[in-house]
Amino acid sequence: MTQKSRGSSATPSVHVPSAQPKAAGRDGALGVAILGTKFMGRAHSNAWGKCAQFFDLKRPPRMIVAAGRNASETEAFAQRWGWSRACTQWREVLQADDVDLVDVSTPNHLHAEMSIAALEAGKHVACEKPLSSTLADAKRMVLAARAAKKKGVHTFVWFNYRRCSAVALAHRLVKEGKLGRIFHVRASYLQDWGGPDTPLLWRFQSDQAGSGAHGDLNAHLIDMARFITGDEIIEVVGAIEETFIKERAIVASHSEALSASKKLKGGKGVTKSSGKSTVDDAVLFLARFKHGAVASFEATRLATGNQNRNTIEINGELGSVKFDFERMNELQWWDGTLDPKLRGWSRIMCTDASHPYGGHYWPAAHVVGYEHGFVSQAADIAAVLGGGASVVPLPDFEDALKTQCVLEAAIRSAREHRAVPIRELDKF
Ligand SMILES: NC(=O)c1ccc[n+]([C@@H]2O[C@H](COP(=O)([O-])OP(=O)(O)OC[C@H]3O[C@@H](n4cnc5c(N)ncnc54)[C@H](O)[C@@H]3O)[C@@H](O)[C@H]2O)c1
Repeated sequence: MTQKSRGSSATPSVHVPSAQPKAAGRDGALGVAILGTKFMGRAHSNAWGKCAQFFDLKRPPRMIVAAGRNASETEAFAQRWGWSRACTQWREVLQADDVDLVDVSTPNHLHAEMSIAALEAGKHVACEKPLSSTLADAKRMVLAARAAKKKGVHTFVWFNYRRCSAVALAHRLVKEGKLGRIFHVRASYLQDWGGPDTPLLWRFQSDQAGSGAHGDLNAHLIDMARFITGDEIIEVVGAIEETFIKERAIVASHSEALSASKKLKGGKGVTKSSGKSTVDDAVLFLARFKHGAVASFEATRLATGNQNRNTIEINGELGSVKFDFERMNELQWWDGTLDPKLRGWSRIMCTDASHPYGGHYWPAAHVVGYEHGFVSQAADIAAVLGGGASVVPLPDFEDALKTQCVLEAAIRSAREHRAVPIRELDKF
């Protein structure tokens, strides 16, 4: 493990936190290590760095070590985002006394190996979604989490959309009975970056990703649907799985992939070789909830014109709610108990101090963004590990396994053209 040079003249423009005690995670702070340094590595680093500024935390996070694969890139990442150390062997962080929690922000096929090793080393784990690339690995993770829980070790999964104020408010409204009996859940997560010009990233390889749009996007929708309704899916009734783009350009590395993608979009092909995409580009399915609601889910990376359109609508006997991530500060609310002449969709700006997380950021209607969901989740994790409570429930491995079972049921349903009950999948 290499110690980052602090405030060296070679890096004058980089903000480096002031000198920290040697055993940083042992002075009441929560020592955090992160595995993975790209998209989620950045989102989580920002969250760990900011959460104690917005929330009063008994056990504020301390950013101890970032683990990546490339030494110079990981050093630069650690300096830029405020990690005290950098290393290239992720197992080293498991031996570090000043690390209390391991944040797993790597591709899906690595979640099981990294999380189980961290739990066995006595570290709390906050793992990215989906829980794993396979149901079998997800179950191994749950068994490890159960064993660790007996020793006071916690697990968390980064289903960050639960912590959008509007989604958290929807959860509370259902819990308070404001929607009454739930009839419908209508959810779709539409993206459009997965066209033929996009190369064969890990996200298109089933041995690394498990699935495509399904595990990536439907995982969020299933979690949001379960979270808001407080109900569980018991059956996937039918499903469609489609891979539109069967071959994609092969590129050597992630950064090369991104630059190749840009060049290909310019019409100049840069690669001669291509490989098979082994994941879905889109999965649609229908499901039933335990308490009678029926649901539709759609996830795709080929919905041209929809860049990150994560939407969910819930219709109950007394009212309805609608959420669209592209207007993430707002919850649409229909109060069916009003005098009919006054009924209509109202737009609730969920930034008031009375809204979940609202009081932690800015004055009402001074809107928040994507990163705040992660900041709120990091704060909730630190609060729980400091002996307090999260603002709204945090998913642990056991909870995320329920979402993984629904993902698996939808894939079986699509491939075997039949209804798949969840009880077929949730046994150990
Ligand atoms: N919660 C969300 O909204 C959200 C959004 C995007 C991604 N994700 C999830 O986050 C995870 C990471 O996705 P990403 O978009 O950050 O991917 P990414 O490709 O941007 O980054 C992956 C990181 O993992 C590292 N890595 C890969 N193999 C490794 C290995 N063998 N050892 C150590 N490090 C390794 C890479 O170097 C890179 O730093 C995935 O599970 C993904 O599903 C969640």
